[in-house]
Amino acid sequence: MQNLVNTAVIDAAYFVAGILFVFSLVGLSKQESAEHGVWYGLIGMCIALITTIMLPSVTNIQAIIIAMVVGGVIGVRLALKVEMTQMPELVAMLHSFVGLAAVAVGYNSFLEHDDITGVMLNIHLVEVFLGVFIGAVTFTGSVVAFGKLRGFINSKSLMLPHRHKMNLVAGLFCFGLMIYFVNVEGNIAALIVMTTVALIFGWHLVASIGGADMPVVVSMLNSYSGWAAAAAGFLLGNDLLIITGALVGSSGAILSYIMCRAMNRSFISVIAGGFGTHVSINSDQDYGEYVETNAEEVADMLRNAKSVIITPGYGMAVAQAQYPVNEITRKLRGMGIEVRFGIHPVAGRLPGHMNVLLAEAKVPYDIVLEMDEINQDFSETDVVLVIGANDTVNPSAEDDPDSPIAGMPVLEVWNARQVIAFKRSMNPGYAGVQNPLFFKENTSMLFGDAKDSVENIAKAI
Ligand code: TAP
Repeated sequence: MQNLVNTAVIDAAYFVAGILFVFSLVGLSKQESAEHGVWYGLIGMCIALITTIMLPSVTNIQAIIIAMVVGGVIGVRLALKVEMTQMPELVAMLHSFVGLAAVAVGYNSFLEHDDITGVMLNIHLVEVFLGVFIGAVTFTGSVVAFGKLRGFINSKSLMLPHRHKMNLVAGLFCFGLMIYFVNVEGNIAALIVMTTVALIFGWHLVASIGGADMPVVVSMLNSYSGWAAAAAGFLLGNDLLIITGALVGSSGAILSYIMCRAMNRSFISVIAGGFGTHVSINSDQDYGEYVETNAEEVADMLRNAKSVIITPGYGMAVAQAQYPVNEITRKLRGMGIEVRFGIHPVAGRLPGHMNVLLAEAKVPYDIVLEMDEINQDFSETDVVLVIGANDTVNPSAEDDPDSPIAGMPVLEVWNARQVIAFKRSMNPGYAGVQNPLFFKENTSMLFGDAKDSVENIAKAI
């Protein structure tokens, strides 16, 4: 009876936590409701953790609490220290832990399966095999993504000869090994061989994806880590872990798909690696002369403008220029000038990066528009301020089929009457390609740290 009550209470608690996770995802999908989304997620996770610790099968609560305290302290310290721009790195590192945990759970379940026989044993062995495979791929893939984003692994794609064939052979080999593994009712040597192949496969898969596709990789690894968690849920017989894993797995996959669409990339070719690497980068190309300007001139232009669009990018995040940007926005709007923001889906270094920064600086939501909503308005705009953006406003994505970013939809800022590009130098952006926008007749360069430049303009206005 006691156990029945326990089971009912646990099921109910898991159900509530599952619903809260769904609410959390719904809340996080909109800027206005994102804070509520975070709270739903937090409460759901607390319910999930407390319920899991209270499970009748949990015998060593002290060990779990010690692990949670140590993990919690490290997590809080990391979260307090991490810069917004380093968030994708942190996320990639956290995904690697999920992958490693799934491998550990898989091995543990395999070594403790003595009491299962028949069809259930076959199902269990498939779960072990898939859980370990996905976990191992997620682990090394995430480590490489972390290294590429942190800069200690070269962000260029690794172009091994026959890389697609190698990936295919590794996949087929692991599939064959799984059939053998189930037929012989489990074999630790087969599991170890598969784990080794999966670790190398994960490493190679992400190593062969180039810098410009890294946002998709991070969200794809997010998806993998969800499936790895769901596989661990099957092995542990934990329904909530299955639900949570499936939510993370599917939302990560949907986000990857949306990002691929935003960058005009085929999802399959991105995850197969090496996409776009057949193109040649001509670094010696002569783009002509660029024109420099200064804060006073830009302030003059802004005062005389009727409509202004600001397109922020990674540089605004680095410089933390969102606060002075909000200040000039308020000043110009106060003078009756229309000011709007154009946000590229992959501006910055993580999905929604610019939206978060602008919301933090209290820029009103209704003037922050998505690329598709604003792209046709540039031709009727007097001044565009490109603040620390580069790849996302690069016309060669449209004009140059040989460019590594060819086909990526971009903000067509060059159609405006006057464009001001805020940068510190003529260095390229994330994709490593020069931007012909900076050499166009209607573009002027405002060199310097974006925060200082915007503050100087605010003073001059
Ligand atoms: P980027 O192309 O990365 O260019 C940023 C520009 O900001 C650089 O040209 C840099 O030039 C300038 N900058 C850096 N620090 C600055 C500072 N303190 N003050 C002024 N300027 C500064 O930026 P983007 O247009 O936002 O494009 C994003 C790129 O990142 C895309 O290629 C995208 O695919 C990739 N990516 C996106 C994500 C997501 S999900 N958003 C994740 C990973 C990668 P200087 O060095 O000359 O100053």
